Amino acid sequence: MRAAPTASRSVIQLADVYKSFGAKKVLQGFSMEVVEGETMVIIGYSGSGKSVAIKHIVGLLEPDSGSVKVDGQEVPALDRRSLYELRSQIGYVFQFAALFDSLSIGENVSMGLRKQGKLSAPEIDARVAEVLDLVDLPNVQDKFPAELSGGMRKRVGLARAIALRPKYILYDEPTTGLDPVTSAVIDELMIRMREKLGVTSIVITHDMRSAYRVGTRIAMLFEGRIRQVGTVDEIRNTTDPVVRQFVEGRADLETDAPRGA
Ligand SMILES: Nc1ncnc2c1ncn2[C@@H]1O[C@H](COP(=O)(O)OP(=O)(O)O)[C@@H](O)[C@H]1O
Ligand SMILES: [Mg+2]
Repeated sequence: MRAAPTASRSVIQLADVYKSFGAKKVLQGFSMEVVEGETMVIIGYSGSGKSVAIKHIVGLLEPDSGSVKVDGQEVPALDRRSLYELRSQIGYVFQFAALFDSLSIGENVSMGLRKQGKLSAPEIDARVAEVLDLVDLPNVQDKFPAELSGGMRKRVGLARAIALRPKYILYDEPTTGLDPVTSAVIDELMIRMREKLGVTSIVITHDMRSAYRVGTRIAMLFEGRIRQVGTVDEIRNTTDPVVRQFVEGRADLETDAPRGA
């Protein structure tokens, strides 16, 4: 089933991707297109290959066969330099990777910018202030991670990802392990990234509440390929028994359980 046609430009395309690790077949004909400005949510059982799929987009994994394109560029074919260039446009928020405890919040957030070496020190300070504002944490530059709550640290992680003004953000389980209130705040921020910054994103989650909140479309990965992709309403009202079983709250089962369904 396909989502309603849209005039937007398709900017991330995985086509017929196969990926195995030894005898373990993970992706088996995985195809997905993400259009500019949308938030594509990928749902699916734990271990079904969601993280493996998005690692192809940043070139952390190469497909055994099939095509992975970002902005029309075939990612596995990029030389090292072009791959770095591409990665600089993609914020990869891997479970809101840990902050460095020995660095201040300002230093944590500005790390990528300093490494990039394109902005002056005052410009970096201004950018840090701007992104901390965006995650509703003004004036925490001089604090250290240990002085912030877990939820605040996640927001700093997001600020760090957006400091580089990425065109794309890949969020891998951004709300896993968070209480519902903090999850809602993170969801709200992801929505803000799309609405205010026009970021195109992919969100991996097995939290359906979050999927319905942040997704412009939702795709379910099952047995190595996309089983269904559609709008929030289409997924909510799915008639596919496999998708239905997942979205109706048996989402915390381990993979392999519903095989052959
Ligand atoms: N680098 C790797 N080497 C071997 N197996 C891997 C590797 N990365 C992932 N896998 C396996 O691929 C499967 C899918 O993993 P993953 O994409 O992390 O699942 P999830 O949908 O939970 O994100 C799992 O069985 C996992 O053990
Ligand atoms: Mg994963």
